[in-house]
Amino acid sequence: MDNLTFVGISGSLRRASRNTGLLRCCAANLPQGVRMEIADISALPLYNEDMGKPEAAQALIRQVSAADALVLACPEYNYSLAPALKNALDWLSREPNLAPLNGKAACILGAGGGMGTSRSQLHLRQVCVYLNLRLLNKPEVFSNAFTPAFDDAGTVVDAALAGQTAELMQELALWTRRLRAPAA
Ligand SMILES: Cc1cc2nc3c(=O)[nH]c(=O)nc-3n(C[C@H](O)[C@H](O)[C@H](O)COP(=O)(O)O)c2cc1C
Repeated sequence: MDNLTFVGISGSLRRASRNTGLLRCCAANLPQGVRMEIADISALPLYNEDMGKPEAAQALIRQVSAADALVLACPEYNYSLAPALKNALDWLSREPNLAPLNGKAACILGAGGGMGTSRSQLHLRQVCVYLNLRLLNKPEVFSNAFTPAFDDAGTVVDAALAGQTAELMQELALWTRRLRAPAA
């Protein structure tokens, strides 16, 4: 069985982010044969073609290009995905033929307000269609950031939510391997 590398990208830059906490929880609940890195997109400037390709963008492009699958954790801002994640995807999308993303397996999860990012996840799915990311449809992981499921540092402390992330990682590994399998 091939080893897989997942890269997580959080749409929230704040230190105690629940969404980054969800990614740490994913990384702590990986199936066998999978490793996971969490991308640091805090130094990424807003996309501007005049800048060329700043070092932070080049580093993200290298990291995502080397990944077998992406784990996108995103808060909901005004019913849509947070701009930090959209900006990261925008930088990644300017490579020829969408190379870092094209055909790559990915999944979404999120921590937000009362509806747990359900509205923003739909918008994010729409963006991912253009990027030709191969999104896992299920399980869906929506969580409320304003409950004791997270501690003050944004770490997941709820066993049920941790179990959902473990199931998501398990399914993402299966989906990634299925996409990489040679056609019969
Ligand atoms: C600008 C802004 C807009 C927001 N809009 C929504 C929203 O439309 N729906 C929602 O559920 N939560 C909304 N929230 C709350 C965020 O989803 C919540 O703060 C989120 O948990 C932050 O994630 P983090 O802990 O990863 O930073 C908004 C927060 C901000 C800062």
